[in-house]
Parts: sequence; C-alpha cells; structure tokens
Amino acid sequence: MKKTILITGAGGMFGKDAAQLFFDSGYNVLKANKADLDVTNLAQVREFFAKNKIDFVLHAAAYTKVDDAETNEDLAFLINAKGAKNVAIASNEKLVPMIYISTDYVFDGEKGAPYLPSDKTNPLNIYGASKLMGEENVKKENPKHYIARTSWLYGKNGKNFVDTMINLSKTQKSIKVVNDQFGCPTWTVDLADGVKNLIEKNMPFGTYQICGGGATSWFEFAKKIFEILKIEIEVIPVATAEFPRPAKRPKFSAMENSKMLRRWEEALHSYLQN
Ligand SMILES: NC(=O)c1ccc[n+]([C@@H]2O[C@H](COP(=O)([O-])OP(=O)(O)OC[C@H]3O[C@@H](n4cnc5c(N)ncnc54)[C@H](OP(=O)(O)O)[C@@H]3O)[C@@H](O)[C@H]2O)c1
Repeated sequence: MKKTILITGAGGMFGKDAAQLFFDSGYNVLKANKADLDVTNLAQVREFFAKNKIDFVLHAAAYTKVDDAETNEDLAFLINAKGAKNVAIASNEKLVPMIYISTDYVFDGEKGAPYLPSDKTNPLNIYGASKLMGEENVKKENPKHYIARTSWLYGKNGKNFVDTMINLSKTQKSIKVVNDQFGCPTWTVDLADGVKNLIEKNMPFGTYQICGGGATSWFEFAKKIFEILKIEIEVIPVATAEFPRPAKRPKFSAMENSKMLRRWEEALHSYLQN
C-alpha cells in the first residue's frame, strides 16, 4: 500500500524537490502550503491531521530569512519554534513520525572541526535560536522524530548561492566572495533522498546531519561553480568583515554527515547538469 507523506512548506525551495522525489518514489504526497496549512495555527494543524490519513510528516515550513530574523524575532520564533511544536503535537496525537528540517546555524562555529549531532549547540543568530527551539519542541512533543540538520542549501526552486553566482557572472568580470566561513553545500534533491533513506531504512529516531560530504568555503564553492560551467571570471577572496550583515554567521559550521550523502562537489555537478 502507498504510504502518505505530508510535506509542510511544500512550496519552498526544498519542499518542492522533496514533494517531487517522494512522488516519483511512489508515495502519496500531501503538499501543504501556508494557505492550506498555517503551521502557527494549532487548531488548523490538528484539523489537517484529523481529516487526512498520514504516515509521515516532513516539516519543511520555516521562516528562512536569516538577516531579517534579527529584526523580526517574534515572527521567526512563531514560525520556527511554535510552528514546529504545533506539528509535533498534532502528529504525536495520531502517532505519526515527524521529520524536522533543522540547520547548521544551531552551532557557533567555534569547534574548528566538523560537528557531531551530539555536540553542544550555541546559535549566534535569531534564526539559529528559533530553529534550535524548534528542535527542542519536536523532541519534547513527538518521540517519533527525526531531526535532520542540513546546511547551505541550493535547488532549482528558490533563491540560492549557486544561481546568484551564475547570475552575477553574466554582468560582472570579477566577484568578491567570503573566504572565512566554512560549511557543507547541500543540494535539495540529495537532502530529500537522505530524508527518504531515514524513513525507508527504519533508522532509529533521533538527530541526524544530512548535508553534502566534505566542507568548503563560500569562495571555493563559487570557484567550483565557475570551473564546472567553464565560466571565466575572477573570484576574489574577502573576509566576512568586508560584507557586514545583520545576522552573525558561524565561521566553521561543517557537520559530520556519516556518509549519508555524497560529496558536495559531485552533487554540484549533478545540479549544474540538470
Ligand atoms: N536554505 C538553506 O540554506 C537552509 C539551510 C539549513 C536549513 N534549512 C532549512 O530547510 C528547510 C527548507 O528551507 P528552504 O530553503 O526550502 O526554505 P523556503 O524556500 O523559505 O521554504 C520555506 C517554506 O515555508 C513556508 N512557510 C512560512 N511560514 C509558514 C507558515 N506559517 N505555515 C506554513 N508554511 C510556512 C514558506 O511559505 P511562504 O514563502 O509563502 O512564506 C515557504 O514555502 C527549512 O526548515 C530551513 O530552516 C535551510
């Protein structure tokens, strides 16, 4: 029998690719956008679970504007912390396992080595703090949970670093890119596949890190994009201090991914070939 997966935030960059991948893999996919299911409204979330037979919920809805969150703290916590709590409460009432997509920004980036799922969290910005509270709420409200931390996402359905670099290269001869922040670029399709594996391999509930293998800086990431596409452009490494932004970012938020996904360079090749 076909399993049914509810995807919240199904209109987002990751949500769209996840919906497609689960559909292509034979799942019945319930795609919920904010208009169908506002995760900040517990009554509405409960009603959705009462009306539909759901086997899994993939909670991808979030407030993702990292810089704007610094001045919209209440809204970031409402969507990321309370929204996750509501979905966890409603899914738990129906004994439905929940997958919560979280972020490397729960870490402060000071460890100097790839983070393990069990490492101490210490978010530097409001977005990270709100997502961490979301993690805690999910753990508290639904014991059948997978917390899937990911990072530096790119995909065809949303604004992302890869497409920004390509677009800039059309009008500029050189681009300055920060060289002192390190992380793991992750293709949304690979993340969706990693999530599917969690479910299908019956992995124990708990916290996982599903990101591209290896680690890089934004500067090296940009250089790799142009190398693959054979675009001739000068990429100039600069310090974060040259590009001040409202939200502080971790310096080194690479995560140990336990080989759950292939290396980031390989995934980037696939994305650019698509
Ligand atoms: N992007 C990254 O680099 C990155 C890195 C690490 C982790 N993540 C996490 O990965 C997940 C997916 O991120 P993404 O980049 O795909 O984000 P996205 O494109 O911004 O998608 C998020 C979706 O959530 C929806 N949403 C917002 N408020 C909602 C509400 N109250 N009720 C229901 N839906 C609501 C948004 O709809 P509207 O557009 O209509 O508001 C949007 O479609 C998120 O949990 C994010 O925190 C992302």
